[in-house]
Amino acid sequence: MALASSEAANPHWTPRVGISDLSHIPGENGPPIIGTTFRVLRDPPAYGKHMVDTYGKVFRTNAFGNPTISLVGAEANELMLFDRDKLFSSEQGWGPVLNLLFPRGLMLLDFDHHRMDRRALGIAFKPEPMRAYTQDMNRIFKDQLKNWRGEMLFYPAIKQLTLDVAASSFLGIPLGPEADRINKAFVDMVQASVGVVRAPLPFTQMGRGVAGRKYLIDYFGPQIAERRRNENRQDMFSQFCRSKREDGEYMSDGELIDHMNFLMMAAHDTITSSVTSMIWLLAKNPEWQEKLRAECLSIAPAGSDITNDQLDQFELTDYAFKESLRLIPPVPSIPRRAVKDFEFMGYHIAAGTAVSISPAFVHMMPEYWDDPETFDPMRFTPDNVKARHKYAWVPFGGGAHMCLGLHFAYMQVKIFMHHLLTSVRVEIADGYEPEWQPWPIPKPKDGLKVQFTPI
Ligand code: HEM
Repeated sequence: MALASSEAANPHWTPRVGISDLSHIPGENGPPIIGTTFRVLRDPPAYGKHMVDTYGKVFRTNAFGNPTISLVGAEANELMLFDRDKLFSSEQGWGPVLNLLFPRGLMLLDFDHHRMDRRALGIAFKPEPMRAYTQDMNRIFKDQLKNWRGEMLFYPAIKQLTLDVAASSFLGIPLGPEADRINKAFVDMVQASVGVVRAPLPFTQMGRGVAGRKYLIDYFGPQIAERRRNENRQDMFSQFCRSKREDGEYMSDGELIDHMNFLMMAAHDTITSSVTSMIWLLAKNPEWQEKLRAECLSIAPAGSDITNDQLDQFELTDYAFKESLRLIPPVPSIPRRAVKDFEFMGYHIAAGTAVSISPAFVHMMPEYWDDPETFDPMRFTPDNVKARHKYAWVPFGGGAHMCLGLHFAYMQVKIFMHHLLTSVRVEIADGYEPEWQPWPIPKPKDGLKVQFTPI
């Protein structure tokens, strides 16, 4: 239903190619209505392997009422993400999922409009504001992590901490009831965007999500004029308010709010998911945890702030984060819709075809990764990176839509790891293997049980 209404609301979209016109591409349609949805959801990696083994690196699926052509491998990632010939629309790929709650977010714009807005938003990731976020993070982590002791569920704890950082760095508001109300509205929106019921009925996730969106619009809207005047505010929202497009114009209030909502969504669950998987992998691989702890202590003693100039010294931490993103990428697959006909691996794919790539699958392909199941951060030394296809590792995407917040993510992870690993040892019970919900953004179903022992 959402898919059909997305199409109706966007007459500029390239008409979707139906399943009957995709029969020249090998694959599976599944039973009527449900198609391959449940098979894909049950075990995405196993389903991907079955499809590649059976049909090859270009195959047809039919999940969520959306017949899609999957393109598999580093070359496919490069074709779609780098998109030299402007073949693919991100708006028409993500729109059916995200438009109801996050319309006109950066990932939901294409080509010239996207380029102009991306440049305007880029102002918030320049060195000076990044230094201000560093200070926020040091303060919040130092203050909150001292309570992280004994047995804890990691996932809800890091989720709250990431929301607190966002209130400060993204919105410039102190922790407290106001931040809590915004966080709740925002969490409702994010949950709704991945919910099963797509109509905003009362008492459904989508109903709460739409109410959350209204709350945020009512909250942000009246603040824009003041934030434009106050040059001293370094938070992201204030900077977006002051930023002008290359035509010299401010973005409209509606555009600013849409960008802000989208950005908070793009940042939130991705950071939460990746830090959770990294902590799990470091608990499972204590020798790596020790190496990272030694590195953190060699950069600054426990309890000291980390400066921006020190971030490059976190070399092993950087490799370990990248390896965690390889094993459990927060965005496991990336959709687009072709806006022009193209050929790939001998197949003709027509304009209007929904296509997708899967970072999660390519990150585990033995043709790029020896022993892919093993946690080995040394895969990311400069020499090893140079020896691999540039698009074999794409947790942040690539090309025009490459993650705008990736440096923010690296910064948050390094500062967090410094404050955590220099104060506690992270342990899990022997043989503990939490079950992961693989989709849409991976997370441990039980919240990840960890033990923090002070050092
Ligand atoms: C580990 C953390 C993160 C991961 C793995 C991640 C992943 C991604 C991916 C894969 C895309 C591209 C999707 C596509 O091409 O369709 C993307 C786009 C984006 N991300 Fe991130 N992200 C992370 C953190 C963040 C943070 C912290 C922010 C903001 C502070 C952010 C803001 C954005 C924005 C604005 C876009 C859209 C860029 C565009 O369309 O031009 N992300 N992210």
